[in-house]
Amino acid sequence: MQFADFWYIVALSEQLRPNTVLARSLLGEWLAIFRGDDGQPVALRDRCLHRSSRLSAGKVCDGALQCPYHGWVYDRNGNVIAVPAEGNDFKPSQQRQVKRYATKEQDGYIYVRLADTPSVEFEPFSMPYYGEPGWETVRVINRFANNVTNCAENFIDIPHTAFVHPGVFRNSRQQKLEMTVERWNGSVLVEYRNETRNLGWYSHFLNREGAEIKHSDRFYMPNITSVEYQMGRNRHLFITSQSIPETDNSTLVYTDVTYNYGIWNKLARPFVRWTAQHIIRQDVEILGIQGEAIAKYGTQFSNTPADTIHVFVESIRAAISRREDPRLLPNQSVKVTFWV
Ligand code: FES
Ligand SMILES: [Fe+2]
Repeated sequence: MQFADFWYIVALSEQLRPNTVLARSLLGEWLAIFRGDDGQPVALRDRCLHRSSRLSAGKVCDGALQCPYHGWVYDRNGNVIAVPAEGNDFKPSQQRQVKRYATKEQDGYIYVRLADTPSVEFEPFSMPYYGEPGWETVRVINRFANNVTNCAENFIDIPHTAFVHPGVFRNSRQQKLEMTVERWNGSVLVEYRNETRNLGWYSHFLNREGAEIKHSDRFYMPNITSVEYQMGRNRHLFITSQSIPETDNSTLVYTDVTYNYGIWNKLARPFVRWTAQHIIRQDVEILGIQGEAIAKYGTQFSNTPADTIHVFVESIRAAISRREDPRLLPNQSVKVTFWV
């Protein structure tokens, strides 16, 4: 198994309008993304076969992509279908085919997989409750100057919230929390107990009645985190993030906040968007700072019991780096007490 075996988001469906080409980076590879003449997404290596211009700087016409330099035209299979300098002498040839990658469109996202023959056939992650009646989704995209592992860890890390998001999310009260952290089948599952109303002003809306808060966090290999809060009827929220590795220290994160607030669903949208973007901006800043120090001194961490989640996430991602299947790691379940 390797990272290239998985599906990664490269765009929102709505960003990929007809006759548009998008430039993307994925695991160090450059991609030109557009819709072919059948409307399906196409991902080509972003390099022209002729003189190596970037195809993503070109134009799409009738579902074919034209290089901006000398006008070679590529179809949805990556075949060259026109060379202006050859005029009527042009003949299609098997030799002229640019590298093309598999694509899928699901839940309003465009996905690309880099491996032609993956060791395991995965499907793109299914976004919880996306498009289901009674549920709203707010989508935000943010770039982090850090790697996928540190991004994923941040999204399911409670101890930072009191420091990075004071007031908005949580205040430091040295309150005792308990969690069960499980590593199973390439996933990390965290269940919290004793979650109370220490969630900043957000909770005045979210949990007016002071219902018991059910909070669980999940990590799914290789790059997905999902946070779930349930506070009684019609107060149910998922924050699901797909962290896309552009390069070793740049990660583009697509975050879905999917919620069921009953009659407040529509009215809450701007509030949910503002809050999500406000919180994520604070995380972008702290992860940029962490990324700088890691670039200089490397990754040597000192863990506390509260970091058990991160140790498990790292073990899963390290297994994939070694080309192993993390689903074969032994199952583990640990009870942890920590203070926040
Ligand atoms: S470099 Fe693309 S057509 Fe010449
Ligand atoms: Fe955060």
